[in-house]
Amino acid sequence: MPVSNQGKWHVDHAQLDACDTCHAGQSLAADKASAHQGMVSPFSDPQFNCGSSLCHLSDWQQKTASYGAE
Ligand code: HEC
Repeated sequence: MPVSNQGKWHVDHAQLDACDTCHAGQSLAADKASAHQGMVSPFSDPQFNCGSSLCHLSDWQQKTASYGAE
């Protein structure tokens, strides 16, 4: 299911071919069921999912607000 043109966050991060940086899960798993274990909705906790990595440590609030998330 290609998502690189779905949702502004995917368009803006399309060069980042690493779904797990935002969605978690098990990126090294060999099948779908195990790969999807522990997935999260990125906006469920934007400070953790967008701001705790090295990506948006200081600007996660502005970034998520610009996507219409709380
Ligand atoms: C920059 C962070 C980021 C990356 C990288 C990312 N996503 Fe997403 N994705 C999001 C956000 C944010 C949402 C919207 C979640 C919401 O509305 O709660 C989303 C939503 C989705 C949805 C819709 C989920 C639903 O319930 O409707 C799918 C499917 C999805 N992403 C797949 C992927 C795939 C596959 C990749 C890797 C190719 C990927 N995403 C990479 C941030 C990202």
